Amino acid sequence: MSSTLYSLHVDLPSGGIDRSYPIVIGHGVLGDGEGFAELLGDSPVVLVSNDTVAPLYMSRVRDALGKGRKVTEVILPDGEDQKHLESANQIWQKALEDHHERRSVFIALGGGVIGDLTGYSAACFLRGVDFIQLPTTLLAQVDSSVGGKTGVNHPLGKNMIGAFHQPRAVLIDLDSLKTLPDREFAAGVAEIIKYGCIWEPDFYHWLLQNSDALLTRNNDVLAEAIHRSCGIKAAVVAQDEREGGLRAILNFGHTFAHAIEHVMGYGVWLHGEAVACGMVMAAKISAARGQVSEDMVTGLISFLEAFGLPVEPPPAMSAEVFLNAMAGDKKVLRGKIRYVLLERLGCACLVEDVTTEEINQILMK
Ligand SMILES: NC(=O)c1ccc[n+]([C@@H]2O[C@H](COP(=O)([O-])OP(=O)(O)OC[C@H]3O[C@@H](n4cnc5c(N)ncnc54)[C@H](O)[C@@H]3O)[C@@H](O)[C@H]2O)c1
Repeated sequence: MSSTLYSLHVDLPSGGIDRSYPIVIGHGVLGDGEGFAELLGDSPVVLVSNDTVAPLYMSRVRDALGKGRKVTEVILPDGEDQKHLESANQIWQKALEDHHERRSVFIALGGGVIGDLTGYSAACFLRGVDFIQLPTTLLAQVDSSVGGKTGVNHPLGKNMIGAFHQPRAVLIDLDSLKTLPDREFAAGVAEIIKYGCIWEPDFYHWLLQNSDALLTRNNDVLAEAIHRSCGIKAAVVAQDEREGGLRAILNFGHTFAHAIEHVMGYGVWLHGEAVACGMVMAAKISAARGQVSEDMVTGLISFLEAFGLPVEPPPAMSAEVFLNAMAGDKKVLRGKIRYVLLERLGCACLVEDVTTEEINQILMK
């Protein structure tokens, strides 16, 4: 039995066709045969997962897709280091061998790696087929599955090859979080508090008040946190689908985070862990500029620490190391490093004038 707790829509400017799509949040969603039948009709499916998530959830989804449907399963090795063109090629190979067609739908069952990879494969297959996101990590549920950024890594940079390709639906099964390791859960929490920082002070305070319940994965609190996060991401994406401006505020903490991930080697710090530290750095600079209070920074640090998230950068990373690493980021525009700071709590701004001195100051604190 499935129960839907929340459903919302990502409304996109039409351009002649309706590209808006639903986000459904509930229990038992992965096994909801009626829900899949309604979304898919009799479309054939390419179901992509990895060798960690597939043993846990693949058969549930497979059963829900129904016996009469053609389903090609692709199970890739787990890991960020598998998010490359050769994995996309494996998906295309299987899809072609099984004679999939334009009305076939790709389904991503897994975290952000599988979501990004499957979405990109769908964007390119036969010049673009539909895909559905079944995100199973907290990070993927509140962030990567929504918004249509898809892609793979290149030896010369993370997420450097990709496409904007919006899913047909995002189906979030809260039950899948029961098997998620604590460290991965915490990485998702970092992205959740980000939304409160940049968009909604009420949500920020609500999270601080409910941190204990979130820590114990209380169902109601978790569902509400995911719902509110998806609502904010949907609102931002609806206004700026291709990151011409506003969408860049979602990168709060990410400029510093990408530098940490790059210097430490990808996978040493989880993305959400690096974002947690990056948000603290950006909040400290905002506080030093008098834009948010020191209390706000302290509150953010305590919240993140409760989840075991890092709030200090690696000791070996000086301002110069950060600047060098950030100069190679794809967020650099016309040679300038762009930072997302807080103009005030709940309102982010994009700036290019952060100085080496300011970074030195926060590293010394
Ligand atoms: N497209 C976007 O807008 C966007 C935004 C943020 C991040 N990303 C990308 O997302 C990726 C990170 O996503 P992630 O944090 O979900 O990592 P991930 O996909 O690597 O998943 C983390 C780990 O959890 C495992 N896992 C997944 N679901 C599980 C479950 N229910 N139970 C037990 N284990 C489970 C995975 O197999 C993996 O080992 C990165 O590649 C990043 O670039 C994309």
